Amino acid sequence: MGNLMGCFGLSATPDLLPEEILTPTSSGISVRNSSGKGYSSSKGYSESSSSGNSGFSFGDQLSFGETSPSGELLEKPNLRIFSFAELKNATKNFKTETLLGEGGFGRVYKGWIDEKANVYSKSGVKIAVAIKKLNSESMQGFEEWQSEVNFLGRLSHPNLVKLLGYCWEDKELLLVYEYLPKGSLENHLFRRNTSMEPLSWDRRMSIALGVARGLAFLHNSDKQVIYRDFKASNILLDVNYDAKISDFGLAKLGPSGGNSHVTTRVMGTFGYAAPEYVATGHLYVNSDVYGFGVVLLEMLTGCRAVDLNRPKGQQNLVEWTGPYLSNKKKLRIIMDARLEGQYSLKAAFELAQLTVKCLRVDHKARPNMKEAVQVLQKVEAVKVKKENRAHSGAANNKNSDNFRRSPYHPQHHDPRTRMESQSPQVR
Ligand SMILES: Nc1ncnc2c1ncn2[C@@H]1O[C@H](COP(=O)(O)OP(=O)(O)OP(=O)(O)O)[C@@H](O)[C@H]1O
Ligand SMILES: [Mg+2]
Repeated sequence: MGNLMGCFGLSATPDLLPEEILTPTSSGISVRNSSGKGYSSSKGYSESSSSGNSGFSFGDQLSFGETSPSGELLEKPNLRIFSFAELKNATKNFKTETLLGEGGFGRVYKGWIDEKANVYSKSGVKIAVAIKKLNSESMQGFEEWQSEVNFLGRLSHPNLVKLLGYCWEDKELLLVYEYLPKGSLENHLFRRNTSMEPLSWDRRMSIALGVARGLAFLHNSDKQVIYRDFKASNILLDVNYDAKISDFGLAKLGPSGGNSHVTTRVMGTFGYAAPEYVATGHLYVNSDVYGFGVVLLEMLTGCRAVDLNRPKGQQNLVEWTGPYLSNKKKLRIIMDARLEGQYSLKAAFELAQLTVKCLRVDHKARPNMKEAVQVLQKVEAVKVKKENRAHSGAANNKNSDNFRRSPYHPQHHDPRTRMESQSPQVR
């Protein structure tokens, strides 16, 4: 694992942060300071420093090499530069039928691209990719795009989505990712009117463990990375339901110089953001642990973190279910009825205890992600004996009506749930 100082900056300048990076030059992009504004057409990145190849450089060849199981911080991102025409072609001109979803910063399409970038060594093999097309004109979108390229372009871990490349032409900013055929955890947990099978307990546990490993990797890399936007829609599932964290648009480098936190504009998603961060703009590594706790709670209950269509007093999942988590009998009441018969109460209770710890208001009292991984490994190992499956969780039936009936799950892009402080602080 390399030294992060040399990894996230684009030049040898040691204090360079991902936010302070790219600005266009006629030949490409060079380092700018945070006062730099605006952007225009560019065909690619160029190194701005005299530090030889210590900064970004992008090959034109896609690499689909194996990801190291423990993750690594690449010296250089190996990102392919796509032309807009190529991506337009890959998505049949961004045809509606290729639309996979829409987030706060743009639409995501499924496309097919040549496996090899080099025109001279075309394999003829097409691979499926997910192409995120950012809303043009949005400065915020541009910042997120930069952050995605800078973080995800260099981080490599089995539980992080692979960024394959990008396109920047005129006002068009696009990102190209590996395609994850099972979509987001959010879809599986909350879109109940589809033909999707409910996620089983075992799958939920393996997803929880996978994303916990991904976060642990981020938090324990040479220089910590705070992910900042942990939520069910940012957890994507591959064909085997292995979970991968996506969307590094809000990621930040962790505190340095002996500081315990970074101070930043409050951004993220209501219901998932840690209370200390929302209240003060102080972002700790453990602020991610809170968001992780919220997702655990969503997996246990099958309910959204925030649902304004639930009765008053139940709209905020953490507040509502808090009193039920520390008592085995009460816990049954709030468990997702679709998990009936699949889990041992002992395992569910252990998971609930971990959830409670992750959701502690005092960020210092939360476990770190390595500890969370250890607990989840234990929980995952508890298998329900076949004969117990029939009645384990049976109490759910009559008691969890509120949950199953939750009449409407608002789109999480509901502007009521996405937040951004009005504070003028620059992140
Ligand atoms: N690599 C991918 N493979 C398959 N589907 C994807 C991929 N990336 C995104 N999607 C789909 O596109 C949807 C939109 O993703 P996007 O990241 O833009 O928004 P979001 O995560 O839903 O919201 P937000 O903007 O708040 O992060 C996802 O929920 C998912 O269903
Ligand atoms: Mg997302």
